[in-house]
Amino acid sequence: MPGTKKVFVKTFGCQMNVYDSERITESLMSYGYTPTEQPDEAEVIILNTCHIREKAAEKVYSELGRYRQIKDERRDQGLLTTVTVAGCVAQAEGAEIMARSPVVDLVIGPQSYHRLAEMVFRAQSESRRLVDTNFPEVDKFQTLPKRSPEAPPLPGQIRSASAFLTVQEGCDKFCTFCVVPYTRGMEYSRPVDQLVAEAQELVDRGVREITLLGQNVNAYHGEGSDGKPWSLARLIDAIAELPGLDRVRYTTSHPKDMSDDLIAAHRNQPKLMPYLHLPFQAGSDRILGAMNRKHTVDEYRRLIDKIRAARSDIALSTDIIVGFPGETAAEFAETLKLVEDIGFAQAFSFKYSARPGTPAAKIVDQIPEEEKAQRLALLQNLLSTQTSRFNEGCVGRVIPVLFERPGRNDGQIVGRSPYLQPVHASGMLDQLGQIFPVEISHAGPNSLLGVIRAA
Ligand code: SAH
Ligand code: SF4
Ligand code: F3S
Repeated sequence: MPGTKKVFVKTFGCQMNVYDSERITESLMSYGYTPTEQPDEAEVIILNTCHIREKAAEKVYSELGRYRQIKDERRDQGLLTTVTVAGCVAQAEGAEIMARSPVVDLVIGPQSYHRLAEMVFRAQSESRRLVDTNFPEVDKFQTLPKRSPEAPPLPGQIRSASAFLTVQEGCDKFCTFCVVPYTRGMEYSRPVDQLVAEAQELVDRGVREITLLGQNVNAYHGEGSDGKPWSLARLIDAIAELPGLDRVRYTTSHPKDMSDDLIAAHRNQPKLMPYLHLPFQAGSDRILGAMNRKHTVDEYRRLIDKIRAARSDIALSTDIIVGFPGETAAEFAETLKLVEDIGFAQAFSFKYSARPGTPAAKIVDQIPEEEKAQRLALLQNLLSTQTSRFNEGCVGRVIPVLFERPGRNDGQIVGRSPYLQPVHASGMLDQLGQIFPVEISHAGPNSLLGVIRAA
């Protein structure tokens, strides 16, 4: 039952935060709140934060500066505003946020979202500042309200024909550069029955494509309906069985957990989309060792061969870090070589960012900023050439597109190809939420243009 009170949620970071923001919003909606995109009309402001790189974490404080102004202006009008910091920065720096930012009323870590609505109301009614960054025993997913048939309208963040579903959380891999094991806790897989039920709720609200999420989603080993641990491949098959659901994706995968049954699913499960995000981080064995990635370059290459043998047209995507402490020019050249040899459809690349509390931050041999920037520019140049090449390879083909939102130009709609490329075509709004074959006429650096053909 939507009410007049409003909640504003701003999300940084990975898809898991997008999913969490959706659950947080829905939990406040169940108490009569309506989502808004205007923070100045919100009784409750929630900032869902990311700690992965320094830049991401710094954004928190600049955002909070804006909210302080809004809170002051609203107070002058006699209006109450409760500012909450959630997400990975909340988990990592809860006490510091409280000390540095008096505007914040509540700090809450990702494992406590089932208590978020109640904590917001307590902060309001008791006029107290609260921090909850414990790792609770109870399963937050069991306690959060069910997915209602009404998706929260958060344009740009939530594509209603396509939804995220977190199936696994946390990480025990402890790569030496990474904060996630500290901010998200130990790896935990949700049970299959719970996930199939939630997937059904999403399908009931019109979702046609579900992306299964986890920091190491392919390490999924949740309890199956037979009481035994199921692999991600089995979970995908179970979810793909839901009538009305057309597409399944998963992300992010770790090379170490890319099992044979998951690779086979790319051959055998028609609803599993031909797209794989498989970060390799660095092209040198020495750096991979220092990163504690637990695999070699050669193992990665052989894995890609196997995956391509199962599904030759698969679009490969990856994450790469440049300038890890001690990375030499020759070692960086090995990263370029690996990219050249494999050929990626998509990639995300980053300058190494030293994170407090991680082992790599203590290595003395940090790479200067300018050097990192130069390496990143070289790498991104190569990667964008590869993306363009992949996109150009689609011209002339007819490919199925799930249309998700109106385009910027009138009369245009935008959807996704099986390879996750945005595809623009002339179409009507009533075609959103459906899949149509599209003949691709043009390829841009980041998207495709085409014409809808009769289904
Ligand atoms: N679980 C995923 C990664 C999640 S974090 C995996 O293991 O592949 C997303 C990406 O951020 C990582 O793949 C990595 O490329 C990048 N990243 C993480 N920590 C970083 C750091 N300290 N500096 C720069 N990039 C980082
Ligand atoms: Fe971070 Fe490594 Fe875990 Fe990925 S696998 S979340 S990079 S520690
Ligand atoms: Fe960022 Fe936390 Fe995701 S640190 S990348 S929001 S798991």
